[in-house]
Amino acid sequence: MERVVSGIRPTGKLHIGNYFGAVANFLKMQYEYDCFFFIADIHSLTTHPTPADLHQNVKHVLAEYIAAGLDIDKCTLFVQSDVPEISELYTYMNMNAYLGELERSASFKEKIRMNPDNVNAGLLTYPVLMAVDILVHRAHKVPVGKDQEQHIEMTRQFGNRFNRLYNVDFFPEPQAFSYSNALVKVPGLTGSGKMSKSGGEADAIFLSDDESINTKKIMRAKTDEGPKTQNQKKPTEVQNLFDLMQLVCKPDVIDTFNSDYNACAIRYGDLKKQLAYDMEIFLKPIRERFIDTLKNENLLANAAKIGAEKARASASRTLKEVREIIGIRKFY
Ligand code: ADP
Ligand code: TRP
Repeated sequence: MERVVSGIRPTGKLHIGNYFGAVANFLKMQYEYDCFFFIADIHSLTTHPTPADLHQNVKHVLAEYIAAGLDIDKCTLFVQSDVPEISELYTYMNMNAYLGELERSASFKEKIRMNPDNVNAGLLTYPVLMAVDILVHRAHKVPVGKDQEQHIEMTRQFGNRFNRLYNVDFFPEPQAFSYSNALVKVPGLTGSGKMSKSGGEADAIFLSDDESINTKKIMRAKTDEGPKTQNQKKPTEVQNLFDLMQLVCKPDVIDTFNSDYNACAIRYGDLKKQLAYDMEIFLKPIRERFIDTLKNENLLANAAKIGAEKARASASRTLKEVREIIGIRKFY
């Protein structure tokens, strides 16, 4: 059966961009493939969280994954740092990743632009660690949002380079995956691009936030003063609201607002109210399950333990072969 790997950094609460870009695919894939879904806590160390925040965020994301519908009997759900084989393979693969290609990565450039005072080596080799997350399970498919496409391309490079260097056919070529036609990019509420945790509180709708918070954010989202001519192209911030409606509203509801827009009769207040209403219908069951799951320390501990065991079994099989391939062989 084809193997699947994907992870999310525990840098805060999950938002609907994470959900529709990544998690929604996990939910279906767990029944169709051999899936490894994880919490990328080592990756999040690049931004130096406090130990308490890091631990809290890992727990939060674990509870969110389960609340969203990940089934630990169907998939392997684990915490990255519970699998030391990942750190070992990361060491080996770093010997095979070149400064020039790492410096050219779009996410590295973006991170040094945003945080010029924290250009650490972990940021530079972030794509190597991500490639290792995927290669360590010799995965074929990686469900991610559009922003991760380049990282998957780099993963193929590193895997292929290993295969060539050692003249083996060991790592498969992983492909970014989404059930929708294209990889998903969920826009933020502030009109500035993709929804993201780093875009500030007002930009993202979080899975675990209360209805009142989410509704307030949606009602405050940027719009323009309204269309002036019939059938005119929507400005980005208005198109963003329509894109968000696509995620949670029924097609006939969207059609009605589209017709109103095209006839210059749209009332953005009504559109936002509808979006907030449908968003709450979607989020309510997830939030309720999340609140229960977060309280259930036994369930979380048990899930993490079972996941760690399954992930290590898979990763240690790969490492055994990798050590042999690269010539790290025991004398005893
Ligand atoms: P953030 O950008 O909020 O820090 P991450 O980088 O941790 O989120 O993303 C985790 C997963 O969620 C990745 O698969 C990523 O592609 C996906 N993702 C994040 N934001 C979006 C978005 N706005 N639209 C689609 N997918 C997204
Ligand atoms: N880099 C991804 C992000 O920021 C998170 C991630 C780490 C990941 N390792 C991965 C995603 C392996 C897919 C597969 O969203």
